[in-house]
Amino acid sequence: MTRPYAVFVGLPGSGKSTMAHQVAELLGLRAADSDDLIVDAAGRSIPEIFEERGEAGFRALEERTIVDALGSFSGVLALGGGAVTTPGVRKALRGHRVVLITGDQQVLLERVTRHPSRRPLLSDDPERTLSLLRAEREPLYEQVAAMTVKTDNRPPSRLARELSERL
Ligand code: S3P
Repeated sequence: MTRPYAVFVGLPGSGKSTMAHQVAELLGLRAADSDDLIVDAAGRSIPEIFEERGEAGFRALEERTIVDALGSFSGVLALGGGAVTTPGVRKALRGHRVVLITGDQQVLLERVTRHPSRRPLLSDDPERTLSLLRAEREPLYEQVAAMTVKTDNRPPSRLARELSERL
């Protein structure tokens, strides 16, 4: 069966997509992001999907997309920050090489406020929301991940090199 070489999880703004692309390039693999796969499949942007189907509708689509990618994509896969809240995604991740990408609150906040377009959940009061999401999701990330990488203030290219050597 085809399976991703590694799967990256973490909060919005943690840098998981950037890391996935850089690590994949170093390893000569492809990178994919579950949000991009969802947008391609639905023909809608993430905020449009939230608006039309609500968060529950988005999570159902996200679960289907991720379960499918876990069985068909062979590169480095980055998951949307909330994917681990769906029990079916956590179950599907068992046996995969899952890496948690983390960072300090201030660093994440700065990144999400710079790129708000794909994060409807963070459009109101991003500071408070990000703290709440962190508290709710940290145990779930730790449940699925076998390895943790902190991205704070370290050049992404160096982190990507170190991580690619550990994988
Ligand atoms: C979400 C994170 C987003 C995207 C959607 C929901 C979340 O992905 O999937 O807006 O619930 O945290 P990123 O983690 O890539 O920002």
